Amino acid sequence: MTEETQGFQAGDFGDQESQNKDLQSRGIPSKGLPSKGRPADEVSALVEQRLSGDLTFTSGNILGSMCSQPHPFAAAIFQQQLAKNIGDPGLHPALTEMEAETIHILGSLCGNPKAVGSIVTGGTEANLLAMWTAKNNTPKERREVVLPETAHFSFDKAASLMDLTLIKVPVDPHNRVKLDEYRQAVGPRTMALVAIAGTTGLGAVDPIAEIAKIAEEHHLYLHVDAAFGGFVLPFLEAAGYPMGDSVSGAEHTGSLKYPGVFDFSLAGVSSITLDPHKMGRTPIPAGCILYRDEEIAGSSTTQVSYLAGGKTRQRTIVGTRSGAAVAAVWASLQHIGFDGYRDTVRRCMQNTYFLKNRIDAMSGIETVIPPVMNVLGIRPSRGTAEELADGLRARGFALSLFPGFLRITLMPHLNQNHLENFLQVLQDTLQATVKAMQKEETNSYSNRNQGENNAR
Ligand SMILES: Cc1ncc(COP(=O)(O)O)c(C=O)c1O
Repeated sequence: MTEETQGFQAGDFGDQESQNKDLQSRGIPSKGLPSKGRPADEVSALVEQRLSGDLTFTSGNILGSMCSQPHPFAAAIFQQQLAKNIGDPGLHPALTEMEAETIHILGSLCGNPKAVGSIVTGGTEANLLAMWTAKNNTPKERREVVLPETAHFSFDKAASLMDLTLIKVPVDPHNRVKLDEYRQAVGPRTMALVAIAGTTGLGAVDPIAEIAKIAEEHHLYLHVDAAFGGFVLPFLEAAGYPMGDSVSGAEHTGSLKYPGVFDFSLAGVSSITLDPHKMGRTPIPAGCILYRDEEIAGSSTTQVSYLAGGKTRQRTIVGTRSGAAVAAVWASLQHIGFDGYRDTVRRCMQNTYFLKNRIDAMSGIETVIPPVMNVLGIRPSRGTAEELADGLRARGFALSLFPGFLRITLMPHLNQNHLENFLQVLQDTLQATVKAMQKEETNSYSNRNQGENNAR
């Protein structure tokens, strides 16, 4: 964080006059709409200058984001199709067909070529849609959602928007929801079940096959949030990280079993979120909601009569919707292909184990669970995770802070040089923390002694 952005809150513009003076002293024009437009090259240089202090994926300093530098080809297609609004599909019948094809490909990847759905703004919109659809498919006496306590905060948003009650179930030491407690949470008011294939904090995968059986037994809607895992799990086995059995081999030092099937091949699964703008290597915004079939999806349809392209129906929360995102997802799937995604996942997993093994060999720091995907949790043995996050941030590295640990996401933009740099900085930060603590201990010891001497 630069000095200027430290402590900045969204919407906090402070005292306009002093801010303008500060901007002018840095050669930046005043805030507000200029009365006369400025030349493009001047503004372009300003944009570059104004944003140069932000972190970038390519610098290798972002280790805590589930997004990444988009694939250059996907970015080029996005740019090429910028003007398209697929919210008005009658204007873009060819793009609409491309979206259907994209859903078919992603559905096939998730065990159901007949899945229906939409390319949406991201995992949040997809999860909101899933909860909305579950609600529309369930009598109004049932408004409880059973989900792991590790579920993404988009479900809290869904609960607030739709007046749902979330029954949050604890997780085991491997961050997987506790099945017995999950089962007990299901009752006559249950509207939907949620399971996660790739938790936000540690990339864990819930026992989805068992949860799908519960859904079947009770005829309940089951949504699988694979926002992160959707572009990892289908490629893990081909990448050399087999699912289902105990992990063996020198590289895999963990004892955790790799997750089994998470998708529509389980009869109880009604819908799945998966995000192309996470491990799918496409530009933001690109999420995806998949429904098992038309019957489930149909309940969340709004008819629209006035659009320029003619009468239509929408199944997304947003109206105007990026056609560029659809084209970029389709093009990425075509260009990267199964082999490309497999190789991306393999590289990310290799980096994950590289980092894990090096961190395990360091003193003063440990990994939280054996990695399931390319997500690694770390925690310091002295001091708090928050202090470590601050120390790393002061040295230019951005990790995500969760209660008690830091998350590192080994995304495609990271390479071994970046990781070596990070390891050096991590070591320095840990040493600095220990020194600071020792100094504090010595100070408090001598203060105490001084106090005792004075008292004598
Ligand atoms: C498991 C999971 N679901 C949903 C989301 C929300 O995705 P988005 O930020 O694209 O809305 C995230 C984001 O990290 C996530 O990890």
